[in-house]
Amino acid sequence: MLQTTVKPASGKLGIMVVGLGAVTSTFMTGVLMARKGLAKPVGSMVEYDKIRVGKGKDAKYLSYREIVPIANLSDIVFGAWDVYPANAYQSAMYAQVLSEKDIEPVRDELEQIVPLKAAFDHNYAKRLCGDNIMQGKTRWEMVEQLRSDIRGFKEKNGCDRIVVAWAASTEIYVPYNEGAHSTLAALEQAMKDDDCQHIAPSMCYAYAALSEGAPFVMGAPNTTVDIPAMWELAEKTGMPIAGKDFKTGQTLVKSGFAPIISTRCLGLSGWFSTNILGNRDGLVLDEPDNFRTKEVSKLSTLESILDADKQPDLYTDYYHKVRINYYPPRNDNKEGWDNIDIFGWMGYPMQIKINFLCRDSILAAPLLLDLCLLSDLASRAGRSGIQRFLSFYLKSPMYDFTKGEVPVNHLFQQYVMLKNALREMGGYEADEEID
Ligand SMILES: NC(=O)c1ccc[n+]([C@@H]2O[C@H](COP(=O)([O-])OP(=O)(O)OC[C@H]3O[C@@H](n4cnc5c(N)ncnc54)[C@H](O)[C@@H]3O)[C@@H](O)[C@H]2O)c1
Repeated sequence: MLQTTVKPASGKLGIMVVGLGAVTSTFMTGVLMARKGLAKPVGSMVEYDKIRVGKGKDAKYLSYREIVPIANLSDIVFGAWDVYPANAYQSAMYAQVLSEKDIEPVRDELEQIVPLKAAFDHNYAKRLCGDNIMQGKTRWEMVEQLRSDIRGFKEKNGCDRIVVAWAASTEIYVPYNEGAHSTLAALEQAMKDDDCQHIAPSMCYAYAALSEGAPFVMGAPNTTVDIPAMWELAEKTGMPIAGKDFKTGQTLVKSGFAPIISTRCLGLSGWFSTNILGNRDGLVLDEPDNFRTKEVSKLSTLESILDADKQPDLYTDYYHKVRINYYPPRNDNKEGWDNIDIFGWMGYPMQIKINFLCRDSILAAPLLLDLCLLSDLASRAGRSGIQRFLSFYLKSPMYDFTKGEVPVNHLFQQYVMLKNALREMGGYEADEEID
C-alpha cells in the first residue's frame, strides 16, 4: 500500500511552455493524440518504466504512477509564449516533424493554443525576428507581465497547479556574474536597473514562474537557473527547479557509452562529436554566441565520467570537441557522428564510430513530458531548489558550484538517483547506493 505523504495530483495541471516551436508542438500533439488513444507516448519513462520497490520476497516492479501520485495526461492544459504568433497547429505544420495524419485529429485543440507575447531581447537570439513580443518593457516589467500571464492562464483554465518549462531557442551565453547573480536581492536590483547584459529574458520567465508558485524547467543550455540567486528564490517560494538542456540524442549516447570506457578501464585520447541539423534550433545555434552556450553544456558531459584526477593514466588531456552544423535539408532529422579514439593494453590505439540518425523533437518530447510531470510531483512532495534526481534527463545537470559539488553525468548513476527519489517520495526505502 502507498504510504506516500505527497499531495494528490488532483485537478488540472497547466503546462506553460516558453517557445512554441518544433519540440513543444511535437510534445503537445503527442499528448493530445495519446489522450485520444491515437498514439503511444513512447520514450516517456513516466508512462512506461517500471522500477523495483522493496527487497527479497517483498520486491515488486511498479510503474511510477503506482508508486507516487502523478498527473494524468487528461488533466493537462497547455499554454505558451512565443516570438512568433503561430498557434500550436501552425507551428506543428511548420516544424514538419510529424506528418499531417498525426496532427489533423487534434487540430481543433492545437489551434486553441495561441502564444502569449514573448519576453524577448533580439540581442539574445539574433536570428529570430518575430513580432509577437512585449514592446519596450524593462526586465522588471517583463517579470510583472509574465506573472500576470501565469495568473491569468491559471484562472481562465481553472488550473490547480502550473509548471513553466523553457523549450525556446538557446540564448547567447551568459556567464555567472557575482554582482547580478549571487543573491536574490542582487538579481532583483539588476532586473529593476534593467541590466540587459546580465539578465537574460529567460531569467524573467524563471523568476516569474517561481514567484507564482510554479516549478521551472530549463530545457535549453541557458544558464538561467544556474545561479545562486535563483536557488535562493526557489527555496524562498518552496519551488523545484530543474535544468539544463534536454539530453536527447548525441549526449544521451555519450553519457551511456562513456561508462563502458571508464568501467572497463580503457583510456581515452579524443572524442570528436559533430552534427548536422536543419531546423530553427539549428539556425539559432549557427550564431557563434548562441552555439557557445550549447558547447559549454555538451562539453561538460564527459568530465565527471572520465575523470583525470581519479585515473591520470587513462584520462589526462583527452581532446573533446563538439560541433553543430546548420544544414537545412535535414530539418529536424539530426544526424550525429561520434569518433572516439580510445587506447588499451600497453597504450595501443583503437577507434569507435557511432552514427545516430535521430529525430530531435521525437526524442525531446517525452523528456519534456517527464520533466513537467516529475517537477509537478516534486512540488507536491515539498521538494524545493535544484532537483538532482532529474539529472537523468539533462545534458548539463544543475549543481551547487559554490559548495564544490560535482554534477553526476553518468547515465546509470543518474538512473539510480531517479529511482531512489521516486522510492522515497512513494514511502519506500531508497535502497541503491551510487558508487
Ligand atoms: N530537440 C532536441 O533534441 C533538443 C535537445 C536539447 C535542447 N533542445 C533545446 O530546446 C529548445 C527548443 O528547440 P526547438 O527545436 O523546438 O527550437 P525551435 O526554434 O523550433 O523553437 C523555439 C521557439 O522559441 C521561440 N523563442 C525564442 N526566444 C523566445 C523567448 N524569449 N520567449 C518566447 N519564445 C521564444 C522561437 O520563436 C521558437 O519558435 C532549443 O533551445 C534547443 O536547443 C532541443
